[in-house]
Amino acid sequence: MKTAIITGASSGIGRLLALRLAARGTRLFLTARRAELLAELAGEIGSAGGEAAYAACDVGDKEQCFAVAEQAVAELGGVDLLVNNAGYGHHRSFLEWDVDDIERMMRVNYLGTVYWTKAIAAHMAERGSGQLVFIASVAGRIATPDESAYAASKFAMVGLAEALSIELEEHGIDVLTVCPGSIRTDFFDQEAMQRMPETARKLMAEPEGLVDAIVDAIDKRKRDLTYPRGIAAGYIVKALAPGFMRSQVKRSTRRPKRGG
Ligand SMILES: NC(=O)c1ccc[n+]([C@@H]2O[C@H](COP(=O)([O-])OP(=O)(O)OC[C@H]3O[C@@H](n4cnc5c(N)ncnc54)[C@H](OP(=O)(O)O)[C@@H]3O)[C@@H](O)[C@H]2O)c1
Repeated sequence: MKTAIITGASSGIGRLLALRLAARGTRLFLTARRAELLAELAGEIGSAGGEAAYAACDVGDKEQCFAVAEQAVAELGGVDLLVNNAGYGHHRSFLEWDVDDIERMMRVNYLGTVYWTKAIAAHMAERGSGQLVFIASVAGRIATPDESAYAASKFAMVGLAEALSIELEEHGIDVLTVCPGSIRTDFFDQEAMQRMPETARKLMAEPEGLVDAIVDAIDKRKRDLTYPRGIAAGYIVKALAPGFMRSQVKRSTRRPKRGG
């Protein structure tokens, strides 16, 4: 039976992925800050015949990450899969963005991933096998205005994953980088939904399709997944024609100025 750790399992993509993996017989260890939601999810998995343990963990807290990772290894025995999914975002201008939140976002989205990967990759290397999944973002490949701090944290995550996919291969560890576009979850609060242009709102994808694609990519030991897949064409356009890409991003994200 396979075993997996999922960070940020209390809602959205992480929660759905937990249910999907549990239904396939994977034994799970779930973490997030909201323990009551993890307890509910573990109960739901247990009632359906699956197995899930959980512990609260703020991934921005280094000591907590290492302590809970140790607990997860003790609980699962061997860890086959780590999904670095915990994260949050905001849409605001850099000039208005509180510097404390910029630091916190980097600590949660990027360093949280570093802490968990550091703890579990060592364990996987000892066993000579494992798979690391990084839930990054399209914003980690193409940065858009009003997402500067978020994009920076996801660019960092993508860079880490890209290097590790080569470095850890010789230890039997595979790395999958997942870059979702806009997915309908609690990630977007009411304010973010209101700020989002109507066309972008209509283009939002449902999390079920993303989770299907993630499970398929895990099975096939793929290295990269962008979802919806068509967005990946943008990476090529950006590499070949950066000026054109910039004007397209600007056009699709900036509201026309009112008045004279
Ligand atoms: N939805 C999208 O459009 C989209 C697009 C690209 C990438 N992503 C990425 O996908 C991942 C999951 O997001 P989602 O869409 O599923 O949003 P979500 O429903 O808000 O889920 C975010 C998860 O991360 C956890 N989390 C947040 N801060 C944490 C912290 N400090 N410590 C531990 N856990 C923390 C939350 O749990 P607690 O609050 O209980 O701690 C929650 O379980 C994020 O990394 C996000 O950046 C999302």
